[in-house]
Amino acid sequence: MCGIVGYVGPQDARDVVLEGLRRLEYRGYDSAGIAVLADGSLATAKKAGKLANLEKVLAETPLPSATTAIGHTRWATHGGPTDRNAHPHVSADGSVAVIHNGIIENFASLRAECEATGIEFLSETDTEVAAHLLAAAYREAPEGEGRLAEAMRAVCRRLEGAFTLVATHVAEPDTLVAARRSSPLVVGSGRTADGTAEYFLGSDVAAFIGHTRNALELGQDQVVEIDRTRGVSVTDFGGAAAEPVAYTVDWDAAAAEKGGYGWFMLKEIAEQPQAVADTLLGRLGAHGELVLDEVRLSDQELRDIDKIFVVACGTAYHAGLIAKYAIEHWTRIPVEVEVASEFRYRDPVLDRSTLVVVISQSGETMDTLMALRHARDQKARVLAICNANGSTIPRESDAVLYTHAGPEIAVASTKGFLTQVVACYLVGLFLAQVRGMKFEDEVASIVEDLRKLPDAVAQVLAEMEPVRELARSLADADTILFLGRHVGFPVALEGALKLKELAYIHAEGFAAGELKHGPIALIDQGTPVVVVVPSPRSRESVHGKVVSNIQEVRARGALTIVIAEEGDEDVVPYADHLIRVPRTPTLLAPVVTTVPLQVLACEIADTRGLDVDQPRNLAKSVTVE
Ligand code: G6P
Repeated sequence: MCGIVGYVGPQDARDVVLEGLRRLEYRGYDSAGIAVLADGSLATAKKAGKLANLEKVLAETPLPSATTAIGHTRWATHGGPTDRNAHPHVSADGSVAVIHNGIIENFASLRAECEATGIEFLSETDTEVAAHLLAAAYREAPEGEGRLAEAMRAVCRRLEGAFTLVATHVAEPDTLVAARRSSPLVVGSGRTADGTAEYFLGSDVAAFIGHTRNALELGQDQVVEIDRTRGVSVTDFGGAAAEPVAYTVDWDAAAAEKGGYGWFMLKEIAEQPQAVADTLLGRLGAHGELVLDEVRLSDQELRDIDKIFVVACGTAYHAGLIAKYAIEHWTRIPVEVEVASEFRYRDPVLDRSTLVVVISQSGETMDTLMALRHARDQKARVLAICNANGSTIPRESDAVLYTHAGPEIAVASTKGFLTQVVACYLVGLFLAQVRGMKFEDEVASIVEDLRKLPDAVAQVLAEMEPVRELARSLADADTILFLGRHVGFPVALEGALKLKELAYIHAEGFAAGELKHGPIALIDQGTPVVVVVPSPRSRESVHGKVVSNIQEVRARGALTIVIAEEGDEDVVPYADHLIRVPRTPTLLAPVVTTVPLQVLACEIADTRGLDVDQPRNLAKSVTVE
């Protein structure tokens, strides 16, 4: 949430920062701004609305060229999305410009303190206090090298809440200073073609992957100073030197481009076969065991687990719901799934033998991070399923399994979701094996089924034209309902969420069996109802029950859109529209049945003329609670 970019180096910092903002716009897009430090003073440009609005302003009134600049795309928390509330915020004396991500919780008392000294605030943001406090702290800090960093530390010690702050001061034109507490920040260091050093700051590596793959990951409560001549130095808020963790970014810049697709989301949907294949790649060791990226848990600890919580938000939560079916079935360990924002506050029963699986594409979702910390405080073990290398959630977990989806730019998650589901299967199989519930060959056989998924997804994608056509005919629907049973239920929830977030159409997902307990009253003549049908080979005739549910809604006038396996003839008489997916083992079916629902939502939104990649009010990475 909120994109942050900073640059110090020989290139025109305006261009580097604007390019970074374009790549980070998915983090928030209700306003944007940039500040450059040129000729001993700060110049800023800020504009409400999408980045394009700021670019227009800059085209009409360019900022001076500079070698130091900071930029921000905002997702409003304090103060509406206006020009005045857009970042950067400049101190009253014009010496400091600040950009911020997060929430400064004690801003009201700090603001009163600043106002008492005669400072007039120009915005309603919590951020502006940081600019004024920093200017004052700079005046107090000892002269000489590192003065801005010292001032930043002094300010951070007074701030409560979660924040990333990046600041530039007119007296230190070749320096940027940044701080982080619970909000994301990475440093990039590179060299231009002639070997000159240059440095980048970003909310994530997408901000600078066009320039360098060398990144540094900062820890909690750290301040980083980047200076063109002195390089990078990191301390904690008290001033003690700290060692950042260096890593190489394995995403390339092209992966974060649209590559000829009209929307990032379309590209990311199309990338799913590869993303699923990459997530499986190299995961099976010589003895059939799962290879986790980082495991700080012994086999004995895994054997001692007697309860699992899966905790996540949004789409990742739906991946968790699917995980429950697979993990319980394979391991016989009870699994509870919970949205992170609820988990933390209801005092869940956790102890050393509880495994908490946190799922997060970005690795920065604040609700999930706070749930993780709560779990660890209660001595539970935490395993993260995450896509973004170097992010906070994997760093703070006991074990990590990365999904190798590559950068996901569209706000609505697609390849992130499918790879999370696959990673959950791998975790379930791994646990089953360690605990002796499955033999190596059984695990290997399910992994073989998993390996067929990329082709199955590719097959679904190759047959999407009728779905696109159907989507165009549904663009004016007021409401669309989604039904499923067993693993089809979370798929129905995900289909409904996709539609809500992209097309702004009312949508609900239901467990098909619950239909008769209330939701069936919603069905009217022509109400579209999407039904995710399990395989006819599924256990305990769940297939037959879903077929009955289709008949029930149709009898009440619904327009039935049926997603069913190839060869399932039972559904044919009751399907107004039939979408076929390849035969897949029941527990793995969500990986194929979700795909048409993604395409449906994307196409309906596009037909309605909406911004598919950046739906209103949303942000890709939600770093506030
Ligand atoms: C936001 C996004 C969703 C995403 C959720 C969790 O709400 O709009 O698409 O599913 O955050 O994100 P995470 O990065 O933790 O998977």
